[in-house]
Amino acid sequence: MSTDIKRKSAIVTGGSRGIGREIVISLLREGIEVWYLSRSEGLPADELCKMAEAPSGLAHWVNCDMADAGSVEEALSTVLAQTSRVDILVNNAGITRDGLIMRMKDEAWEDVLRVNLTGAFLTCRKISRVMASQRTGTIVNISSVVGIMGNGGQTNYAASKAGLIGFSKSLARELAGRSVRVNVIAPGFIETDMTDVLPENAKDSLKTQIPLGRIGDATEVAQAVAFLCSDKASYITGQVLAVDGGMAM
Ligand code: NAI
Repeated sequence: MSTDIKRKSAIVTGGSRGIGREIVISLLREGIEVWYLSRSEGLPADELCKMAEAPSGLAHWVNCDMADAGSVEEALSTVLAQTSRVDILVNNAGITRDGLIMRMKDEAWEDVLRVNLTGAFLTCRKISRVMASQRTGTIVNISSVVGIMGNGGQTNYAASKAGLIGFSKSLARELAGRSVRVNVIAPGFIETDMTDVLPENAKDSLKTQIPLGRIGDATEVAQAVAFLCSDKASYITGQVLAVDGGMAM
């Protein structure tokens, strides 16, 4: 597949499930070849192709622990050995380790910052070189409304997601001269394994804060990512697009 020079190539971190998996499927649907990086494959890559009605072989899983700089370097080198160009980078991998600050352990702070923020720094540093020399490319970093609004019990997560916004705006300014666009999606409350752990009463109370009155679907985030990665968004860079049913307006 990668020998077709007209075909676009994408890297998605954390594509094994949830929002990341839907992002992979939505890019495959556009005919884009996708490498997704996660610690486990989740559904087999060819199953994702089937779900997207894309040719088999268009999706590739690469084993990667975003918490480990050596693993990220190795995974990106594996991808770059298979494709000479990278048109799209989506930093989606993310974790939570919630707790009130007075009881928060160092590891809970460091783990979240390492995966959510340092992980994106590592991929952007390497792939921005590729995109800058191509003089084209688009990066989408998945933040959260929590990075905009804050949330009690999530100081570590909010710091990582707010950090991602400042990071992305700075990167957008650095790379604009090379025609590389960098944007952020800030999802609200989306139905995935990450939010499944919340008790029903917490979900109900969260719903009352959403003007559209319902929890979002991972496909609704993926559609927004696909838009920002497409030529339809060719004049959009350095922006934060909330996909949150109006929660953070
Ligand atoms: P999820 O828990 O279902 O999926 C997380 C993804 O990150 C998985 O694919 C997992 O493999 C990957 N991941 C986690 N740690 C990793 C590591 N060390 N190395 C490699 N991959 C790793 O979560 P969900 O909901 O799909 O979240 C995706 C992104 O969206 C995250 O960045 C999250 O913070 C963000 N988000 C989610 C919201 C929600 O309501 N579900 C709301 C706002 C933001």
